[in-house]
Amino acid sequence: MSVQVLKARLGALVSNPPIFTIARILARLGIESNFVTRREIVRFINSGDPARLESIFRRICRDAPQCGIDPDRDLADKNVLEIGCGRNGGLAPFMMRQNAKQYTGVDPLVHRDVLHSDAVLRALEQGYFKTGETDGMALRECFAVHCQFLKSPNDRELDPLDIITSISCLEHIDDLESVIASISEKLTPGGCHFHLVNFSNHLDRDQPFRWMYELSPDAFKRSHGGIINLKRPSDVKGIFEKLGFETALIPLDMRPEAIPTDTLHPWWRAHYDIEELAVRTAVLHAVKTP
Ligand SMILES: C[S@@+](CC[C@H](N)C(=O)[O-])C[C@H]1O[C@@H](n2cnc3c(N)ncnc32)[C@H](O)[C@@H]1O
Repeated sequence: MSVQVLKARLGALVSNPPIFTIARILARLGIESNFVTRREIVRFINSGDPARLESIFRRICRDAPQCGIDPDRDLADKNVLEIGCGRNGGLAPFMMRQNAKQYTGVDPLVHRDVLHSDAVLRALEQGYFKTGETDGMALRECFAVHCQFLKSPNDRELDPLDIITSISCLEHIDDLESVIASISEKLTPGGCHFHLVNFSNHLDRDQPFRWMYELSPDAFKRSHGGIINLKRPSDVKGIFEKLGFETALIPLDMRPEAIPTDTLHPWWRAHYDIEELAVRTAVLHAVKTP
């Protein structure tokens, strides 16, 4: 593992209270404590995680108007699946507030009862839903009836989906093509994929392409532990097009100045143009044609 990866992972670990760090290490060994997991979720809710995710979702709808998704109009009565919802409930509270018919959060790290404990419901009621729009019982019923969390989309037979979404997840999935092909089978004709993809190195916010473009993809994966799949915008778009989707990829953040032109590895130069390499984040919108 490279020094940069070690620094990034240590940074993430020390930003958490030690009890959660220990819990995460134990969870990797298959030992999970429901008590600690609930405490961690409450902490995330109290620090504004549901509102953060809502604001990202709203921002990508606003910054990519071509997709035609209005979060205040197009989520009600929809069956939504979020890939990579994380361990804290992801967009579920927002989707419930928008009256989605069903929300499924999928993540290998998620606990299936993530939003069902008294402590978590209380934190949501007093925080994210504090406007008095709902009470504890109504919330409990809402999450019990309309939300589910799965470690894999294959864990349960899914109802037909209207929207499949994600925030900074697709770049972490190694077998992206087969995962997208498999969940897309459940998408209704006219339904859509709507994803925010982060094409950066995930190591240094200020230098989003450092190290990554200075090595061949294989060398980077070897030295940086496969934290990202290294697919570039045209690769991700190509996966959806190959599956027959009407696909648009809308770059949101371009960083040409961050490309290490002097030390750019020839592999990258040969396979992509500089403009594509400069895309840090983009929205992928893909509609299943009837
Ligand atoms: C950078 S985190 C993003 C979490 C959350 N969406 C957010 O923005 O805070 C990426 C997430 O993708 C999840 N992930 C990785 N591979 C996945 C897969 N094959 N299916 C579903 N989720 C996956 C990881 O467990 C992780 O929680």
